[in-house]
Amino acid sequence: MKAEFLGHATWFVENQGTKILFDPWLKDEGNPQATKRAEEIEADYILVSHGHDDHAASTLKVARKNDATVIATFELANKFGAEGAKVHPMHVGGTYNFPFGRVRVTPAFHGSGVPGGHACGFIINLHGKVAYHAGDTSLFGDMKLLGELETIDVAFLPIGGNFTMDADDALQAARLLGARVVVPMHYGTFPIIPADPRDFKRRVESQTSSRVEIVTPGGVLEI
Ligand code: NI
Ligand code: MN
Repeated sequence: MKAEFLGHATWFVENQGTKILFDPWLKDEGNPQATKRAEEIEADYILVSHGHDDHAASTLKVARKNDATVIATFELANKFGAEGAKVHPMHVGGTYNFPFGRVRVTPAFHGSGVPGGHACGFIINLHGKVAYHAGDTSLFGDMKLLGELETIDVAFLPIGGNFTMDADDALQAARLLGARVVVPMHYGTFPIIPADPRDFKRRVESQTSSRVEIVTPGGVLEI
């Protein structure tokens, strides 16, 4: 599986020809870390963890251009559906078998960005590779359960603090999840979410069984 970091919390993953975009926030919609414009993205599915602009602002552009299916919690999916996107609504705790593999919608403790909605994270099995995109969330104890339910190859975790877990809490998250590889995200985009990914890597690798890969925007990881 290939995972390309497009900046902030936006990830493009591809395996065996299936292209999935997480939390699209690209150049023209104001992501200062973004390496690409929405028009440059090819995607079959777009997974949106919540409706805040730094996770969702480029969704419609990418969805329309690719006729991609937007997967999100019910209220947010329906908002995109009303705006003309093809959608597959799910909700927290739900799983569904897509042609590429299973999607599990995980809890995330955060605002939803839409009335009555709920933020989430996603664990996807993309043709046998398992990736966890935590979205924006606090640390929560049931990450231990997620790590028991799924054998996670790669976990994308926010480390910037203020709106989400900081690096200290993300270290605990790594301990609970037991992912093979942990990748920090959602830091350094604004002055209010600073973090030192090299210090995070040192601490996670000395205190857990996970390896940390630091990916800079535009960088690609092979999992
Ligand atoms: Ni948010
Ligand atoms: Mn965010």
